[in-house]
Amino acid sequence: MERSTDVGLNRTGVDMSPIDTKEMLALSRATPASSGGDETSMAAVRREYNAEAEDLGSIPPPGTLKGVASTAMQKLTGKNPEAFIDKLGCRLAFERTGVRLYDALIAKCSTAPGADIQVPLDTLWTFRNQELQHFKLVEAAIRSIGADPTAQTPSADVDGVASMGLIQVLTDPRTSVAQCLEAILIAELADNDAWQMLILLAEKMGMNDMARDFRVALNEEDNHLMHVRQWYKQLVLEDASLAS
Ligand SMILES: [Fe+2]
Ligand SMILES: [Fe+2]
Repeated sequence: MERSTDVGLNRTGVDMSPIDTKEMLALSRATPASSGGDETSMAAVRREYNAEAEDLGSIPPPGTLKGVASTAMQKLTGKNPEAFIDKLGCRLAFERTGVRLYDALIAKCSTAPGADIQVPLDTLWTFRNQELQHFKLVEAAIRSIGADPTAQTPSADVDGVASMGLIQVLTDPRTSVAQCLEAILIAELADNDAWQMLILLAEKMGMNDMARDFRVALNEEDNHLMHVRQWYKQLVLEDASLAS
């Protein structure tokens, strides 16, 4: 399989041209910054923006009668279903992204010579389809409490922004399988923790059936994580000619 690390014409480091480095340093000394200040000025601007900013978003009111009743009931018992709906919306968005990440990884492994020996395509398809099932599971859970699965919750928004880099790594034609697995590993680590959080919330909300279904998903996520970790480790060791 192709290596992720090859020696080539990388000119990003200063050691490539000591003469130019000296000139560059001399120029930076000869042309100091046009205005004073340090990172404290930036922090002050950020504080100003933070103080004035509105929230990232909100949880929409339940759209169905069942939801109104359900939400009201939860509130009466002193719980806050909005926080739960926020995290359900977040899981929904992330599982959907998970499908797209695996789609991209499958495309990558289908074309990289020899990749399917270390990273079996049928296993990737299984994981991809499980992410889709998890998406559907969360969608049903959101509907069951009368909330709207098509609404983007604040946490879903945050996760979407945080995942953008992972999608970029997976869909960049130049990235290697090992580099893509590193991105998938980040996603699976976050995924695993987030399911645990969701199960905890569901239990505390008294949604025991939901928590039970979520535990089945977590078991599958455990399996994803174990495999991705192993594949990634193997490819990095091979790249370093250290594989046994
Ligand atoms: Fe997932
Ligand atoms: Fe997963």
